[in-house]
Amino acid sequence: MSSTAALAPLAQRAIGVFDSGVGGLTVLRALQAALPAEHFLYLGDTARLPYGTKSEHTVARYALQAADELVARDIKCLVVACNTASAAALPAMRDRYGELPVIGVIEPGARAACQSTHNGHIAVLGTDSTVRGGAYTRAIQAINPRASVLGIACPLFVALAEEGWIEGEVAQAVAARYLQPLLAQALPAADTLVLGCTHFPVLAPVIAATVGKGVHIVDSAATTAAAVRAELERARLLRPAATSPAAASAADALQFLATDGVERFAAIGSRFLGQDIDATAVELIDL
Ligand code: DGL
Repeated sequence: MSSTAALAPLAQRAIGVFDSGVGGLTVLRALQAALPAEHFLYLGDTARLPYGTKSEHTVARYALQAADELVARDIKCLVVACNTASAAALPAMRDRYGELPVIGVIEPGARAACQSTHNGHIAVLGTDSTVRGGAYTRAIQAINPRASVLGIACPLFVALAEEGWIEGEVAQAVAARYLQPLLAQALPAADTLVLGCTHFPVLAPVIAATVGKGVHIVDSAATTAAAVRAELERARLLRPAATSPAAASAADALQFLATDGVERFAAIGSRFLGQDIDATAVELIDL
């Protein structure tokens, strides 16, 4: 990495993106917008979803297996597009992969929340595992020690998002039930709500309607994409636009791996990514 000659091939490698399932595609979408010249290799560990109800030990083991698979495919940077896996395994991944940049979603989400809040009261919606482990509280209070953080576990949101029930009476009823502690908070209530699970952005409209206008909703996807961009710039690993001519096929620029159900991954994933995924382009792998 120290010689200029060695930089070019490395810069042309793909960015690896990983989630327990399709939720991380909301982050991939932001990455594509922020880094249009880059190539991406996305892995959804669909066979073992949900991660959020499992122990930290199991999540860390699964996450490291998935990350090993991406690293073995010569990525230049790893984006852990899953809050649950970021909370459980980010330090272990950084130890394991040495100089490879590893970026999670929690630090960028915490930063965005601290920038958004005016009154220092922040609510975080996440999976059981993410909320139980307190990673957001630590990350937010590392930036603003006086911030108060209310964590709310919303595991059914993962199932609703996967099922496509992102609006209507069932989604509204589940949101009202989960968000009750936030709505019942004594004043001053949280003015900022972090979507601390990459499955949740597709439910943002129903969440916003439930909490009302006074609460700003933070999705860490855009901040994560900005963090990845900054890290690639710092490491001089940005893929030069000129090396990605129109001739480079879309198939090269975006590849998918899933551990189960490629048809389902493509069908549901298309909603999260905001563009069609062709099931024949999804490679089935075993970890
Ligand atoms: N998308 C994952 C996250 O950001 C959670 C989904 C799951 O429970 O596997 O935490």
